[in-house]
Amino acid sequence: MATGQLDGKVALVAGAGRGIGRACALALAEWGASVVCLDSDTERGEAVAAEVAEVGPGGVFARADVLDRASVRDAVGLAGSHFGALDIAVDIVGLGRFKSYLDFSDEDFDDQVDINLRQLFIVSQECLGEMVRAGRGGSFVAISSTAGLGAMPHMAFYAATKAAVMSLVRTLAVEMGPHGIRVNGVAPGSTRTPRTAFLDEEARLREFSARVPLGRRGLPEEQAAAVRFLASDQASYMTGQTLVVDGGSSVQAGRRLDEMGDVAVVPWRGD
Ligand SMILES: NC(=O)c1ccc[n+]([C@@H]2O[C@H](COP(=O)([O-])OP(=O)(O)OC[C@H]3O[C@@H](n4cnc5c(N)ncnc54)[C@H](O)[C@@H]3O)[C@@H](O)[C@H]2O)c1
Repeated sequence: MATGQLDGKVALVAGAGRGIGRACALALAEWGASVVCLDSDTERGEAVAAEVAEVGPGGVFARADVLDRASVRDAVGLAGSHFGALDIAVDIVGLGRFKSYLDFSDEDFDDQVDINLRQLFIVSQECLGEMVRAGRGGSFVAISSTAGLGAMPHMAFYAATKAAVMSLVRTLAVEMGPHGIRVNGVAPGSTRTPRTAFLDEEARLREFSARVPLGRRGLPEEQAAAVRFLASDQASYMTGQTLVVDGGSSVQAGRRLDEMGDVAVVPWRGD
């Protein structure tokens, strides 16, 4: 295990309180980063900051709402005042509103765009602004979703906003490149987090797993491994990219293996 890759680095994880965010905070700490654990839920955020402090050099909780710029700015400030700098920022906050397109209201639309896009605008602008001011480079990782790669019935604006996250990653990479700041993304497929635990019900899981070449849902730690790779110098020549971590589900556009039958009986040329 490549521990120590992030020795001396300071990271901020927005949405660190549980699921993929918690796994990211712990993964960064394992490789030696001090971590500001930003979350709107005090109980969750404090618990994760304590776990982070156990596995790495330091963890501190910052209570902030990612839609409230002042509180995000304070959290970014905490990275400086507590640990002296900000080198890495990861934004995992995001939610999907599930409704048919014709039932989607103006309020649903605003909520969906706010929690997936406006908050990323605020978090990235505050973190990248701080990195540019400090002038020592950095790395930013945004979380999108495989939903942004294709159709997502009844989650139209979840898919559209996640596609926008991937687009933003590309543009920010170009604007931040001259400052030595890399901007990348991770697009998870279905991942076992507390929020999506309802998908683990057996029948659903069987049906779902058949659509994933690796045959199962992902783990938060598997998303965090990709995030940590992108955040570290192991990805020093990567920017503007989104890594898809989905057990292969997004490449399976054609038939599934279990639908193909016995290859031996398929005729070929003169057979
Ligand atoms: N779990 C999946 O199957 C899956 C699949 C694809 C993409 N994703 C994406 O991964 C990300 C994380 O998913 P998850 O399932 O781990 O999420 P989660 O809901 O389990 O965790 C989100 C964390 O963010 C915090 N949070 C929510 N709103 C906040 C706010 N306004 N301010 C500050 N903190 C806030 C929550 O308290 C929580 O700790 C999301 O962007 C999601 O769209 C998840």
